[in-house]
Amino acid sequence: MVKICCIGAGYVGGSTMAVIALKCPAIEVVVVDISKPRIEAWNSDQLPIYEPGLDDVVKQCRRRNLFFSTDVEKHVKEADIIFVSVNTPTKSRGLVAGKAADLTYWESAARMIADVSKSDKIVVEKSTVPGINYQILSNPELLAEGTAIEDLFKPDRGWKAVQALKDMYAHWVPEDRILTTNLWSAELSKLAANAFLAQRISSVNAISALCEATGANVCEVAYAIGKDLRIGPKFLNASVGFGGSCFQKDILNLVYISECNGLPEVANYWKQVIKINDYQKSWFVNRAVSSMFNTVAGKKIAVLGFAFKKDIGDTRETPAIDVCKGLLGDKAQISIYDPQVTEDQIQRDQQPTSPSAVKQVSVVWDAYEATKGAHGLCILTEWDEFKTLDYQKIFDNMQKPTFVLDGRNIVDGEKLREIDFIVYSIGKPLDAWLKDMPAVA
Ligand code: UDX
Ligand code: ADP
Repeated sequence: MVKICCIGAGYVGGSTMAVIALKCPAIEVVVVDISKPRIEAWNSDQLPIYEPGLDDVVKQCRRRNLFFSTDVEKHVKEADIIFVSVNTPTKSRGLVAGKAADLTYWESAARMIADVSKSDKIVVEKSTVPGINYQILSNPELLAEGTAIEDLFKPDRGWKAVQALKDMYAHWVPEDRILTTNLWSAELSKLAANAFLAQRISSVNAISALCEATGANVCEVAYAIGKDLRIGPKFLNASVGFGGSCFQKDILNLVYISECNGLPEVANYWKQVIKINDYQKSWFVNRAVSSMFNTVAGKKIAVLGFAFKKDIGDTRETPAIDVCKGLLGDKAQISIYDPQVTEDQIQRDQQPTSPSAVKQVSVVWDAYEATKGAHGLCILTEWDEFKTLDYQKIFDNMQKPTFVLDGRNIVDGEKLREIDFIVYSIGKPLDAWLKDMPAVA
């Protein structure tokens, strides 16, 4: 029986291994992690990550050919194939901080593999690594959270460098979708794919500002341009900004690699995608503050949605962090509701912050509670349940005048205006009130 050990039981490791175990019953898959609570959660009914479809897959395979363990060294030693799915965030300090990937976790995993291995191994991992005695494959992760299980069932692409890996994927991926390239092509494909996707969002967001200025509707513009098959309709939703653990990190990596290769113009080109994303978040905060008489000091503001997109509980690089920071900077009292993100996580995401700012944030488990007595309500994640809230009831319990700032364009602005809300939707024609209270970026 082929044995796979995956180091790192996060979003990538957990979801990928669950699907491999499901699709390859003859392979034994063990996911290991240094975090005891994480492994305990994977072995419980409350999985550590929320991902539609994941519960079912884990239930089918767990303790059959899918195991979760903290005994890292034992399982690495026994494995034929080792996947390294540890976190590689952007470096936060030291040389090239804010640019290059932090390979601390990866390096320590690699050293441990070298120390404990007594037999030949195939090591599959996500970054570029120098290897002599091991066959190192670069198999970049291309999962979109929220549809990870669906993506793994039907991936657009797969990368491989040896037959073993190809055989494994061949259990459920058509052969013409398993691509084999050289290592740098694989790495750059992953970075470029994410940079292109993020660039589409920054492009449509840049157009949204122009729509507001001219009276166009960004949804109509996006629909029209998406009809051109060469452009296509996906990833054209204007928003308060993109988030997630990949887009910004991968663009920063692309920028860093470009700079290292003496290509500053290329680096600046991609940097602009991040700059527009930052601009979009601050533009949203400015709209909120300026519409409420240029100050939100002491005012309760409800924040609906904190995850970086719907159907997940992940907050990495979520635009909600910067929007809340902006509102807190103007001394607002914020009440946050998200169906999946825990209070602990939200409080951690506000760090580092002053003790007084902590008092300015409360986390509640109901949208009605969050909006009670609030002056404004900001929608920052496109959860379906926010489309069907009883907005009349919400309006009745809020201060007047009452503001909705829809950062995801999910509410029906006309209906809300009938109730008497003042509505701001990204890139849509502005209410007279907002025209009279211009935002300054
Ligand atoms: C992304 C890539 O899609 C995936 O292929 C990659 O390997 C990992 O990174 P993920 O970060 O999980 O996946 O989410 P994705 O669906 O790409 O969304 C990223 C961000 O863009 C979210 O904040 C989302 O709300 C935002 N977004 C997406 C928009 O603002 N508008 C859109 O039209 C689409
Ligand atoms: P991703 O979204 O890329 O999967 P996560 O942060 O969700 O990232 O998961 C990475 C996991 O890797 C974490 O649970 C972390 O504890 C684990 N990890 C980091 N370093 C090691 C290591 N040396 N050995 C085992 N697990 C590790």
